[in-house]
Amino acid sequence: MENRSQDGEEEDPLFADTLNKGGGGVFQNRKLVDIDYIPNEDRIVGRSDQIQQVAEEIAPLLTGTPANSILIFGKTGTGKSLVAKHVMERLQSEGRRQETDIGIAYVNCSQTTTTSRVVRNIGQNLCTEEAATNFPERGISVDEYYERLWRLVDDQFDGVVITLDEVDMLKDDNPLMILSRAGESGSVETPISIIGISNKINYRDQMNQRTKSSFGHREFVFDPYDAKQLQEILENRRDAFKEGVLEQGVIPRIAALAAKEHGDARKGVEVLKYLGQYAEQNNKSTIAEDDIDQVREIAEAERLQDLLAGLPQHTRYVVIAIALLTENNPNEDWFRTTQIIDAYRRFCSREGYDALSTDRVRELLDEIAFLEITEKETQHSGKGKGTFNQHRLLWKPDVVEHINT
Ligand SMILES: Nc1ncnc2c1ncn2[C@@H]1O[C@H](COP(=O)(O)OP(=O)(O)O)[C@@H](O)[C@H]1O
Ligand SMILES: [Mg+2]
Repeated sequence: MENRSQDGEEEDPLFADTLNKGGGGVFQNRKLVDIDYIPNEDRIVGRSDQIQQVAEEIAPLLTGTPANSILIFGKTGTGKSLVAKHVMERLQSEGRRQETDIGIAYVNCSQTTTTSRVVRNIGQNLCTEEAATNFPERGISVDEYYERLWRLVDDQFDGVVITLDEVDMLKDDNPLMILSRAGESGSVETPISIIGISNKINYRDQMNQRTKSSFGHREFVFDPYDAKQLQEILENRRDAFKEGVLEQGVIPRIAALAAKEHGDARKGVEVLKYLGQYAEQNNKSTIAEDDIDQVREIAEAERLQDLLAGLPQHTRYVVIAIALLTENNPNEDWFRTTQIIDAYRRFCSREGYDALSTDRVRELLDEIAFLEITEKETQHSGKGKGTFNQHRLLWKPDVVEHINT
């Protein structure tokens, strides 16, 4: 796991200046607005039932008994990753109390799409730094990674939980199936429980039959937050800032905006973080409602950048082509596949890249629709003329400036 300190742990004063200052120095506890920060229970809003339910599924590990594997679905920013990490950490510390060695691993499959990387990351997550050399970057086969993982699990732990976040991004279901059936297939004695997470509710239909059955029916769907919950989530992070920094109305406005964006807590927390950075860069000592619009764009751009990171170059070029089309046609949102392919080709020839085939670009268009970078719909051209697809960018077109080619 990454090194994360829980609330209450003091910052080392030696570094306090760098962490909290710079310009206006509006932060007093900056990590509270880090997206990957795992808050204590008293800062988590509206997820106690889910926390309880997930805990119940994996609790048998504490007695060395096989536990269930579960799937969590829900839109982005509904607290899926948070709940999984939170419950894993609590299980591990309860394990320590009971002198039961619980191993936990968290892998985000959007950055780790191949089987060998996934298994390697799990191994590296679970073992000590010295032992990490058992999971080298290259040079061993997938089977060997699995073998080493099974040995590590059996040697070191009484129970293991592995969270595979954004599992829908995996190239295939194989690791999901092998990991969730490791006990059954006799690969390991130590029980392993898998928490699979997906932002896509329809992912389940794409999973192969055998994987599905290994997860049984233990599925949870996290609903979006409403404005009131979002407000509370953000209020609970107010102390990231020095007292009096956030002017009245800032948090309610961010909450209202996040509620409109399908109740996405991530957007809210991110906007708070960017507001702080913006204030510091501009030597401001307070943050006002008007600053929100300024930073939302930066926040958006960063998110898109995250989504695009790790995707093939040409996927980015296709997104840029759609953004350029959208910018150049202020009265239109929707563009036909053929228009986009033309724009993409123009972009490639301008930048000196070899354009991919039409079929390949069509596939990339499907992929970016799947990632919710665009929306795709099929239109009928009228009598007997068949159908065509059109696409709409779900992001403001000016984010294109922030896309690295
Ligand atoms: N119920 C909640 N209480 C407090 N903070 C939350 C809650 N849900 C989400 N957050 C915060 O919002 C951000 C996004 O949550 P995350 O768990 O990553 O969402 P998901 O995995 O569903 O996309 C994180 O910074 C998280 O700490
Ligand atoms: Mg997540």
